[in-house]
Amino acid sequence: MNYIVQSPLNAREFELYYDLRYRVLRAPWNQARGSEQDASENTSTHAMILEGDLCIACGRLQKTETEGVGQIRFMAVDPQYQGKSLGKRIVHYLEARAKDEQLREIILQSRENAVEFYKALGYEIVEPTFKLFGEIQHYLMRKQLN
Ligand SMILES: CC(C)(COP(=O)(O)OP(=O)(O)OC[C@H]1O[C@@H](n2cnc3c(N)ncnc32)[C@H](O)[C@@H]1OP(=O)(O)O)[C@@H](O)C(=O)NCCC(=O)NCCS
Repeated sequence: MNYIVQSPLNAREFELYYDLRYRVLRAPWNQARGSEQDASENTSTHAMILEGDLCIACGRLQKTETEGVGQIRFMAVDPQYQGKSLGKRIVHYLEARAKDEQLREIILQSRENAVEFYKALGYEIVEPTFKLFGEIQHYLMRKQLN
């Protein structure tokens, strides 16, 4: 299947995009609707893959306080579509947008279960950081963009 990575273009697509974040990253920990969004949505770059009326993969690139360094957040792939290279497609899209913005490095906070995924894409662990919802260990990871 030739999936297309795109930015959400209208209110309906943003609804589907945030819904995937919520279903994968928040609902399993009984978090409230709305917790899948933050104050940086309007200033970030969004990537999604649509399959009919469902968002099946998504991720976000945001600026950091450090010049030239971007951060990837809210990476999620629908459980039925995981392991089919869609996450990789989203990261590659966001890295390309980061290069467009002259960023030289990407950092991210990886959940423990996603560390091997990011390693496969060239990211290295810097250090363990925080536990989300009191249980999900995170690791600061980084990658230099060429
Ligand atoms: C983590 C996640 C985004 C990865 O997306 P995905 O579409 O399942 O991963 P991909 O199929 O694109 O994998 C890309 C590469 O990483 C590797 N990889 C992925 N998960 C892996 C794992 N758990 N262990 C080892 N390698 C892994 C794949 O083998 C693949 O390598 P290849 O390109 O050489 O074949 C997705 O599984 C997910 O949404 N998980 C739940 C939510 C989550 O944890 N999000 C991350 C928050 S930081």
